Amino acid sequence: MADAGDTRERTPWSGRFERTPERFQQRFGASLPMDKRLYAEDVAGSIAHARMLGAQGVLSSEDVEAIVGGLEAIRDDIEAGRLEFDVADEDVHMAIEGELVRRIGDAGKRLHTARSRNDQVATDTRLYAKRRTRELVTLANRLRATILELAESHLGVVMPGYTHLQKAQPVLFSHHLLAYFWMLTRDVRRLQAAHAAADACPLGSAALAGTTFPIDRRAAAAELGFASVVPNSMDAVSDRDFALDAIYACAVGMVHLSRLCEELVLWSTEEFGFVTLDDAWSTGSSIMPQKKNPDFAELVRGKAGRAIGDLVSLLVTLKGLPLAYNKDMQEDKEPLFDALDTYADSLVAVHGMLSTMRVNEERMAAAAQGGFMAATDLADLLASKGVPFREAHEIVGRLVLECERSGRRLQDLGPEDFAAVSPHLGPEAVDAVDIALVVARRRSEGGTAPERVREQIAEAGAALAADERWLAEHPAA
Ligand code: ARG
Repeated sequence: MADAGDTRERTPWSGRFERTPERFQQRFGASLPMDKRLYAEDVAGSIAHARMLGAQGVLSSEDVEAIVGGLEAIRDDIEAGRLEFDVADEDVHMAIEGELVRRIGDAGKRLHTARSRNDQVATDTRLYAKRRTRELVTLANRLRATILELAESHLGVVMPGYTHLQKAQPVLFSHHLLAYFWMLTRDVRRLQAAHAAADACPLGSAALAGTTFPIDRRAAAAELGFASVVPNSMDAVSDRDFALDAIYACAVGMVHLSRLCEELVLWSTEEFGFVTLDDAWSTGSSIMPQKKNPDFAELVRGKAGRAIGDLVSLLVTLKGLPLAYNKDMQEDKEPLFDALDTYADSLVAVHGMLSTMRVNEERMAAAAQGGFMAATDLADLLASKGVPFREAHEIVGRLVLECERSGRRLQDLGPEDFAAVSPHLGPEAVDAVDIALVVARRRSEGGTAPERVREQIAEAGAALAADERWLAEHPAA
């Protein structure tokens, strides 16, 4: 708007001041480099405010028309790249208002009647948080749909289930994947809660105490698509809980994606070989010609730390602030935007990796044959014959030790081998240690047996459909 290097002659508060700000103070005080991305919300908020003032008889209809037309033209110019911002304008609110005054004169100067930047910025940021949390629900749902498809199309595949990263009990690959589906389902709940927290309008609270003008807060709120108005004008300008909620949703979502990515890193090693990431989602080494690295999975894992830092950053910014608005709160933008961007990009990356990777079913199945993972079932068999479980545990433990020494698996043993260990064991022991049967026997609700996993897939499909309906019920503004 103004040339770089130009120190603006006037500020909006130039009446009270005898000197104009120096360049450093302008730069240090400015939020424009960060908050310029709020331009669409700022224009929408100002249009709603102007229309409301017009309807209340505070502004003439000619002024309202000039303001609305001017703001729409400014928005179009910003979108077409015809308007550059200058940090001399401090923040996006003053940049747009200043430009409006340059374009339409006095009517533009009337826009800020019955308003403060304090309720203005809170309104803009809430609109932005609503838009982005909704967009994140869309991206999370897309990833959930991909996980669900993978679970459905690999229903027969058995893999080792781990505790302590040691082979524990065999599970269906689909069961393992669906665990992430449910994590993402909870992440979507948190995003919806953050969306609801942002869905109340602060506009009309003015600086902190309300205004002397006969405004209609509910009309402005309704035009902007808010579900309600914030009841207390002081809370309205100083509350950033909605930003914390949004960052928290992103941080937890990132922790989940990070755990999934850690598994992708592990599974794509030669040692595991459970999956092969697509070339498009891998990178090579500048020195080692053979390398194919899971960089994108590692980056998502790494970026989880950023989102957690964003949450801590805003919590600490807010913790000592007295009511009502304090300039510290300008520091809310960076962590909020960073968390939203980081989580959005990471959802795209994880979707890209999962939807293109090759699942090496034979490698998983072969790994599931190792690790004596049927030992619990053998102990259960003994217990069902009346052997106290602690004794059964001891007997099977000794058998595992012997097998380990002789290089055999439980599945390699015949009925006579089992009978030699305990009079209670015979031919059924052979079934007890069959890995497919070990999986099939876990029919408890939420268990890994194929029929239970099929049930889970149906339940997951219903949960996803409900969250698709939520999107339809909360259309983008
Ligand atoms: N740029 C400011 C922010 O992001 C806008 C509100 C400034 N209000 C004030 N009274 N200085 O918080």
